[in-house]
Amino acid sequence: MTTDAPQATPTPNAAFKPRIFSGIQPSGGLTLGNYLGALKRFAQKQDEGIETIYCLVDLHAITVWQDPEKLRQQTREAAAGFIASGVDPARSILFNQSQVGAHAELGWLFNCVARLGWMNRMTQFKDKAGKNAEKMSLGLYAYPSLMAADILLYHATMVPVGEDQKQHVELTRDIAAKFNHDFKTDFFPTPEPLIEGAATRVMSLRDGTKKMSKSDPSDASRINLTDDADMIAKKIRKATSDAEPLPESVEGLEGRAEARNLVNIYAALADMSPAAVVAEYAGAGFGTFKPALADLAVAKLSPISSEMTRLMADPAEIDRVLGKGAEQAAAIARPILEKTYEIMGMIRSR
Ligand code: TYM
Repeated sequence: MTTDAPQATPTPNAAFKPRIFSGIQPSGGLTLGNYLGALKRFAQKQDEGIETIYCLVDLHAITVWQDPEKLRQQTREAAAGFIASGVDPARSILFNQSQVGAHAELGWLFNCVARLGWMNRMTQFKDKAGKNAEKMSLGLYAYPSLMAADILLYHATMVPVGEDQKQHVELTRDIAAKFNHDFKTDFFPTPEPLIEGAATRVMSLRDGTKKMSKSDPSDASRINLTDDADMIAKKIRKATSDAEPLPESVEGLEGRAEARNLVNIYAALADMSPAAVVAEYAGAGFGTFKPALADLAVAKLSPISSEMTRLMADPAEIDRVLGKGAEQAAAIARPILEKTYEIMGMIRSR
């Protein structure tokens, strides 16, 4: 018996060993949002000793048209960004999605598990498609089910992401629970989103109500991980703020989206809480706070951008790292995919 409703009692994850999976689209340059919401935390999780698998999701990137040469370049640059941010390919598996065919295969199987009604609720599709839904690719619509496949192909139990990916991880849980229910199994875990820290949603430097994004037409709205020290400092100096001094407590940031964003960025870069940041700068205006933030951002980010430049000088080495990571990933993914086919009733006689 199948059911259209997500199941109430998911499989307990205690039966699965702790494993982290997460991904980033190589659909443009990496931003400070990607760094604070994802990359910095990816490296921390690896350093905590949890098994970590990280993926450049090129199959997701092509849900909107990508220039092939640029896609190759951006994938290498994103790989360099991971490594420069502290993801160590000797301790984490790092690869690009299309080199492990099992992602696309499990994605198809999950297209047959996920319900149209669930997809229709995905806010990111609505945001990206806007009034042009009819002209979007079928892939963009089905994308969350491929994301579920990315995660569940490794029986991952935890998924570090920024706030904007929460709904997709919840859908992953629904797909896992429905699969387990429909096939009377407890084969897939129900992974937890890990949305932690002060910068789970870094906002645009021009408009504190919009997410910082690689696709924003204004380059001044974001800090790119490839920006040099001068550019970082300039963008922070020019960031939209307000005329009030910083309050004594975070409650005082209510209704001040830009101020709150700059405080959160400071907190995440300095590994402090936003409360500690406002306590330190209470009463200071942005004339004081912005230069301090610019200095901090330059100190933390410019070593990353120079390391990326160094790594990018040897693209063959990056490709080698991704190839090796893909082999390691495939070794975990293949048996899980094979078992999924078997559970679903496909003959495996090859
Ligand atoms: P993507 O490529 O848009 O973003 C990659 C990661 O960066 C986080 N992020 C942010 N965090 C805070 N503030 C921001 N302004 C900001 N912008 C981006 C995202 O939340 C994300 O964690 N669908 C995913 C990629 C994906 C994936 C997966 C993630 C595919 N398969 C499996 C986890 C597990 C995406 O488009 O992320």
